[in-house]
Amino acid sequence: MKIFIDTANVEEIKQANDLGVLDGVTTNPTLLSREKNNPKKQLEAICKIVNGPVSAEVIALDALGMVREADDLCKISGNIVIKIPITTEGLKATKILSTKGIKTNLTLCFSPLQALLAAKAGAGYVSPFVGRLDDVSTEGLNLVADIKLIYGNYGISTEIIVASIRSPMHVLEAARIGADIATIPFKVITQLLKHPLTDIGIERFLNDWDNLKRTER
Ligand code: E4P
Repeated sequence: MKIFIDTANVEEIKQANDLGVLDGVTTNPTLLSREKNNPKKQLEAICKIVNGPVSAEVIALDALGMVREADDLCKISGNIVIKIPITTEGLKATKILSTKGIKTNLTLCFSPLQALLAAKAGAGYVSPFVGRLDDVSTEGLNLVADIKLIYGNYGISTEIIVASIRSPMHVLEAARIGADIATIPFKVITQLLKHPLTDIGIERFLNDWDNLKRTER
C-alpha cells in the first residue's frame, strides 16, 4: 500500500519524506488555508520536496471552470494531480481532463456508485472519506471494501486512496482490504511507528550492554 501524507504543511511533509516511506501528498482547501501562504506558492514548495503525486483541489463548481483551474494548477509542477469533487460537473471535468492526459483524484466520495462513476469518467484516483462516514455512525471502511470489490469485478485501474483517516486502525484496515493508497495525517504517521515494547526493548538492550561493559572493566 502506498502512503501519502494528508497535509499542506511543508515541515510535516519534509519529516515524513525523511522517513523514506512517503509516496505522495494530498491537500485540500482547508489544509492550504491553515498555511497562511499563497496556495500556488505553497503547492510549488510541496512539489519541490516530494517526487510523487501531489493532489491540488479545484474551487470552481462548473466543469469548464474546473478545467481552467486544472490547466493553471498543472503549470505548478509535473506531479500535480487535480482533485475534483464527485458531482455532475466534476464528472464532466474529469472526462475532459482524462482525454487531455491530466490525472485526477475524485474526492468527497461517500458511496460505491460515486466511485464507479468516477472510474468510468477516467479518474486516476478516487478518495473515499472513511473518518467523515464514521462521524455519522456509518462504517467508513465498508465503503472502501465495496469499492475494492466493484473495481475488482471489472478490472478497473482507478486507484483507491483511503482518505479522512483518523487513527492507525483505519490504516491497518485499509491495508487488510487491499486499498492502493492511504493518505494519512502527520500525527497518525508517527503513531504507526510507535510501540511501547520497542522502546522497552531498546532500553533493556542498552542496560544489559552497559552492565557487560562495566563487568569487563
Ligand atoms: C483527502 O484527500 C482529504 O484531504 C482528507 O483526507 C479529509 O480529511 P478530514 O475528514 O480529516 O478533513
